[in-house]
Amino acid sequence: MPRDLVAKVLKSSQPGSTVDVRGWVRTKRESKGGFAFLEVNDGSCFGNVQVVVDGKLPGYETWIKEITTGASVAILGEVVESPGKGQRVEVRANEVRVLGTADSATYPLQKKGHSYEFLREKAHLRPRTNTFGAMARVRNALCDAIHRFFQDRGFLYVHTPIITTSDCEGAGQLFQVTTLDIAKLASGGRESSGSTSPVDYAHDFFGKKAGLTVSGQLEAEIFACAVGDVYTFGPTFRAENSNTTRHLSEFWMVEPEMPFYELEDDMDLAESFVRTIIKDVLNRCPDDLAFFNERIEPTLLESLHHIVEHDFIRLTYTEAIEILLKSGQTFEYPVSWGTDLQSEHERYLTEQHFKQPVILTDYPRQIKSFYMRCNDDSKTVRAMDVLVPRIGEIIGGSQREERHDLLVSRMQECGLNPEDYWWYLELRQYGTVPHAGFGLGLERTLQLMTGMHNIRDCIPFPRAPKTADF
Ligand code: 4AD
Ligand code: MG
Repeated sequence: MPRDLVAKVLKSSQPGSTVDVRGWVRTKRESKGGFAFLEVNDGSCFGNVQVVVDGKLPGYETWIKEITTGASVAILGEVVESPGKGQRVEVRANEVRVLGTADSATYPLQKKGHSYEFLREKAHLRPRTNTFGAMARVRNALCDAIHRFFQDRGFLYVHTPIITTSDCEGAGQLFQVTTLDIAKLASGGRESSGSTSPVDYAHDFFGKKAGLTVSGQLEAEIFACAVGDVYTFGPTFRAENSNTTRHLSEFWMVEPEMPFYELEDDMDLAESFVRTIIKDVLNRCPDDLAFFNERIEPTLLESLHHIVEHDFIRLTYTEAIEILLKSGQTFEYPVSWGTDLQSEHERYLTEQHFKQPVILTDYPRQIKSFYMRCNDDSKTVRAMDVLVPRIGEIIGGSQREERHDLLVSRMQECGLNPEDYWWYLELRQYGTVPHAGFGLGLERTLQLMTGMHNIRDCIPFPRAPKTADF
């Protein structure tokens, strides 16, 4: 018999029906009247089901001792109306089996209220806590909403490679992928054939220097310029030594790419995307989000509804710099035209000045990637970043440079060798079209959705500098 999910029991099981509930004990309470009360959770929803165990059940004295916080149990019982507040039904056990004990002297989650730092070291157990169970369900609902948004609009889901030989952002943040013997190289034993470079990548696995992708955009452009609207959604990797609450070395990114789109169309899609996926998750995960609102961020639900219900503010980078200069604020990083915005500046704009999400456009070309379309002022590019309260940037995007010769000179300006990007340039030689796209960081979106302060708590197994446990 398949088991009955706690979510289903709590929501729709009728009193009188028999259920087979399996899960992990969150708490056990023994009452004087010869009963025990177990709170059992199976992860199918935020809530636990209360199981009432009669002390007269066979063997009770023996197995009730084995049931402690963390133990796994299988309960066969009857659904009854609950006399308690806050729950519709509970389960009266007819048969209890202990599947696995959890020694209370050593079980790391015996007590509640551990710090997030402690829980990060227990990544194998933290999904059993309220916070990380809720995070897993919200993450799942968010991914589903993302796919649904694009599928409903006829976008094709394209899988772009994880191992690549091109650096999309041109920032040199690729993790290298190699089968060369690094220890041998370090000790002077050449893997090379005597060229001036200490390493001859012709001898490496792929015959050239390869790495883990920082973005699927360039390959998404190939498909956008062939089959129409597409999106990629997968892991991306950045060897950036940023120890912040907003950076991971491995994170998931959603990247739509649309032919015949200009920057305004790109912004319209990005705004509608963010508002739609938040609305979907609000509808799908009310209990989990209520928990985050109560325990993590008291303005969470209000701020999410605000985002869903209001248009984003749109302004240029230049206008934003003027606002920041006039703000009278002392920032850790001083602002001037031409510098990249820091999180403190993005948060000032979204939290204090506008009090809602903002889309900034037309950034200085020297701080943006080579592929962004140049404006006629020759100073700025058709970039757009979506900034939100509490986080700052969650989306980076642009209209792409579709003019071959301008693209070549931009690559040179950015210190890239156009020959390395020959195939990307051919898209501009054969049937070039205006096109645009953007990338949304999944874990930053989860920070926004849950109010969790540290991005490392928004991915099951965080990777960051000096952090790759499990
Ligand atoms: O702004 P980014 O670097 O843009 C791109 O990679 C473009 N190729 C996207 C495109 O146009 N198709 O990154 C996009 C988003 C950021 O706005 C942020 O949400 C997230 O990816 N992001 C990170 N999230 C976590 N940790 C990091 N180290 C991140 N770097 C970027
Ligand atoms: Mg960016």
